[in-house]
Amino acid sequence: VTLILLGPPGAGKGTQARMLEQDFGLVQLSTGDLLRGAVAAGTDAGKAAKAVMEAGELVSDEIVINILRDRMGDDDCARGVILDGFPRTTAQAEALEGLLAEHNATVDSVISLAVDDAAMVERVSGRFTCGGCGEGYHDTFKAPKVAGTCDNCGSSDFKRRADDNAETVAARLEAYHASTAPLIAFYDAKGTLTTVDAMGEIDAIASHLSTIVGKVA
Ligand code: AP5
Ligand code: ZN
Repeated sequence: VTLILLGPPGAGKGTQARMLEQDFGLVQLSTGDLLRGAVAAGTDAGKAAKAVMEAGELVSDEIVINILRDRMGDDDCARGVILDGFPRTTAQAEALEGLLAEHNATVDSVISLAVDDAAMVERVSGRFTCGGCGEGYHDTFKAPKVAGTCDNCGSSDFKRRADDNAETVAARLEAYHASTAPLIAFYDAKGTLTTVDAMGEIDAIASHLSTIVGKVA
């Protein structure tokens, strides 16, 4: 099973992908997370990507496709994947088709999360993540039950991303509209697209997505 979550920064791709991962036994593949891992590990790809990510621009198709191809080959991905933040350009979408074709697979479902630009700035600038288990939080919308302590693992090691500032968020949004939004029409033409209003409560959106994913997974 191959699912794609499309949407601008802050749409809730990561939040929803983690919930679907647990419910359906699929693996969340976030190219943003893979790239941040490469930056932290200091690989050649990470060195090339660091400044681009800090500017809020798109990393080259070549680097992103290579990093995704490597991860998709891992055994745990065989049952199915939720692609979060990939593809982001038409070239990436076409490369994905080639990659899946090698395994006689195709994209089963594409969910486009629709939010308004103002809401996404608020969501991204309030975001933080648990360094212990990776759980995502938000200052206003999803605060830990006990302030300063992760609900899941009890860690108090919270992190904020270097690119979650107002200036970079504007550049990320611009990159989304210029390069990624055209994929909505690309997948609509293939009949695999469902658009979901992602302005509501996290749990309400999650149950809507579960219904859609339940038809293919
Ligand atoms: P990436 O890591 O993919 O970031 P992004 O697309 O900007 O997406 P985000 O992680 O910001 O948002 P999200 O939709 O996952 O929202 P979340 O669930 O966290 O990419 C980073 C960079 O890497 C890019 O700029 C680029 O440079 C590079 N890159 C990555 N992939 C690439 C590719 N394929 N090609 C080229 N370059 C690539 O939610 C946000 C916050 O809101 C959270 O705090 C959450 O708790 C809260 N929230 C979520 N849902 C709701 C809700 N319904 N109501 C209220 N709050 C909510
Ligand atoms: Zn945690």
